[in-house]
Amino acid sequence: MRLGKLIDDKINDLLIKIDMQKVPNHVAIIMDGNGRWATGKGLPRSFGHKQGVIVLKEILKAAKNLGCKIITVYAFSTENWTRPTKEVEFLINLFSEVLKNEIKEIHEESTKIKFIGDLTPFPKNLKEIISSSESLTKNNNKFLFNVCVNYGGRQEIVKVAKQLALKSSSGEIKPNEIDEKLFDSELLTGGIKDPELLIRTSGEKRISNFLLWQLAYSEIYISDVLWPDFNEYEFLKAIIDYQSRNRRFGGIESLPNESLKDSQCSS
Ligand code: IPE
Ligand code: IPE
Ligand code: MG
Repeated sequence: MRLGKLIDDKINDLLIKIDMQKVPNHVAIIMDGNGRWATGKGLPRSFGHKQGVIVLKEILKAAKNLGCKIITVYAFSTENWTRPTKEVEFLINLFSEVLKNEIKEIHEESTKIKFIGDLTPFPKNLKEIISSSESLTKNNNKFLFNVCVNYGGRQEIVKVAKQLALKSSSGEIKPNEIDEKLFDSELLTGGIKDPELLIRTSGEKRISNFLLWQLAYSEIYISDVLWPDFNEYEFLKAIIDYQSRNRRFGGIESLPNESLKDSQCSS
């Protein structure tokens, strides 16, 4: 009880520092460090992934409370297939289990869930639950939760290039009609506004093939905390740090209330 109060006090201390007019609309997160967290405790890596799910729920709640409208998380990269089969299978099972358990609450909170990536290699049961979750929540408009699975930024860009080439060769579009807007609309993120903030946990300072197009002008926040230890307090620290940045977009001064102007949860 006393510990709970201490944590609440620490969170409140941060909350009062946050400018509610400048809360990022879209936050992307590379949830990293699950394996190291577990190994450091003498546990199998799978324990880190399980704990990571609990943290994800806490962060989604914190983001919603703050007024963010979109969270996009990196859950499984195209490169993660190179991991031992047992770990890959564990993760695939975990996605199905979590989705089955959480979809009711996600829907009740009027959150729209979308899976971004190439779903073809996943087992039938996972594909089915993904498809039913997406259709159940497709009209929800309070919050958008994007889950990137079997996702790779380069693969996404190549796919768009192919689609546009096909449209162009069939005469549907003219080559000189291809511009950033059209390219953006063909991305798996489907034209939603880019993340203003990217958070990566576990101290790694790389993008690892995540949202290569969409992160062009995002602010990057690296936390040394491993994802299973990340929490609302650490998330608020990231938001405060983001609010201290001078977003110039190549110009010489910040745009006022840039995030408010773009506030949306879907395209
Ligand atoms: C992130 O944690 C989760 C996934 C990539 C699925 P890791 O599993 O990469 O954990 P570390 O980086 O090995 O500690
Ligand atoms: C990025 O983390 C992918 C996910 C978080 C799903 P990784 O742990 O796979 O990335 P690297 O290997 O450190 O670049
Ligand atoms: Mg990792």
